[in-house]
Amino acid sequence: MSKHTEISSLLADPKIGEACTVRGWVRAFRARRFLVLNDGSTINNLQVVVDFENFDEEIIKKISFHACVMVYGKLAESQGAGQAVELLAEQIDILGESNPDDYALQPKRQTMEFLREQAHFRMRTNTFSAVFRIRHAIAYAVHKYFNDNGYYYMHTPIITGSDAEGAGEMFQVTTLDIDKAPRTADGQIDYKQDFFGKATNLTVSGQLQAEIGALALGKVYTFGPTFRAENSHTSRHLSEFWMIEPEVAFFDIHDDMDLAEDFLKYLINYVLDNYPDDLQVLDKRIQEAEKNMKKELRRPMGLIETLRFVVDNEFARITYTEAINILRNSKPFKKGKFEFEPEWGSDLQAEHERFLVEKHFKKPVIVRDYPKSFKAFYMRLNDDQETVAAMDILFPGIGEVVGGSQREERHEVLVKRMEEMGVHLDELWWYLELRKFGGCPHAGFGLGFERMVQFITGIENIRDVIPFPRTPGKAEF
Ligand code: 4AD
Ligand code: MG
Repeated sequence: MSKHTEISSLLADPKIGEACTVRGWVRAFRARRFLVLNDGSTINNLQVVVDFENFDEEIIKKISFHACVMVYGKLAESQGAGQAVELLAEQIDILGESNPDDYALQPKRQTMEFLREQAHFRMRTNTFSAVFRIRHAIAYAVHKYFNDNGYYYMHTPIITGSDAEGAGEMFQVTTLDIDKAPRTADGQIDYKQDFFGKATNLTVSGQLQAEIGALALGKVYTFGPTFRAENSHTSRHLSEFWMIEPEVAFFDIHDDMDLAEDFLKYLINYVLDNYPDDLQVLDKRIQEAEKNMKKELRRPMGLIETLRFVVDNEFARITYTEAINILRNSKPFKKGKFEFEPEWGSDLQAEHERFLVEKHFKKPVIVRDYPKSFKAFYMRLNDDQETVAAMDILFPGIGEVVGGSQREERHEVLVKRMEEMGVHLDELWWYLELRKFGGCPHAGFGLGFERMVQFITGIENIRDVIPFPRTPGKAEF
């Protein structure tokens, strides 16, 4: 194929009078004259001027919504408003027709739910192309941040032999024929005959293995897919999602919070600095959707304004105990507006998190030192013997984006916690050995990648920030 110019580079440095070839998909064809072309390289379109009298009617007829075309022509200063340059078409080839009568997508606003069913086409829309360019940008910024700060990227396994964290929320991996699975003498499935000679699952987190890396390379991070078989149908849960997990030797819980805050702000700044056009389109989309909403249902700030606000302000930092006190002294609690009572010893509910972030502090909040009763076995026991050095970061509109902790590095304390919580010591023999041979204080956290993409793009449902969402009952594409 002959060379063609991407619209992003063409618009960045337009050379008036020069001949070029572009390829892309038709966004609109107005008055049989103005062909609006997008090739995905940027949110911005190229206007192609088509003098229809010079073209075969067969070609003109095929210039339909989302058809794929190649245009050869000369660049000219644009007569119309809104763009600096336009392409005067001399030759048009239809690379892929798209019959508008049969095509699911139409050049009008279609609901996010409908587009979700059309995941093979939805990336061609303005909204989704912006979302997925920004998703890429955040992934790139993750690697850039850690690389620039001396962290090593570590690949932790996707198939795991320990169900340490998941406890019943894992997807099993097996090559056994489930109809005819071999049984042991006592009637249990005989996993010795399975592919790995033991029961295996898809990982829920790379943390435990990342700890191995931290105790050798000092600063590591993982960034990979994780899987949770919870039956959650919320706008914040996926069954398959991506998680970023840094793990750092010699860090305590305060270092961990500092790292997380700096990292999250870096990601937001990266997108603000490098993807302003995509952000503007997403910002406008929200404003339009909220135009007819009651004031109290609208977001307090626009998207870009929210992102600026988050990077320009320090996150609030409180203990779980302080959080409970704030909640118990709050108006909604006193007026009986909470569905769940905020009570010391039980986990914060989404409504409590929302109150803290959106009503009380009006900015991101880091809650730390949670009761040990509902937190994982590996979190470091505090001196009060009741709480652990855990921290969650709560974001407006999203809730928890980060969960992390200082890890229990004391062998005997860890063994006791595992026994208390019914975690199998023999399965995690290697994890325990890390505490016996050259152990040290260390800490880390997990950032839910899609929740961060959701926050930065302002998209309401997490299913719309991953190309092919997996949720209970749904694994199409
Ligand atoms: O809080 P979680 O469960 O923490 C861990 O897995 C730790 N091992 C992390 C660590 O310390 N290295 O999960 C971390 C984050 C959550 O804060 C949330 O943002 C995201 O992962 N997350 C989900 N995102 C989408 N769908 C789900 N079902 C999620 N579950 C957790
Ligand atoms: Mg969590």
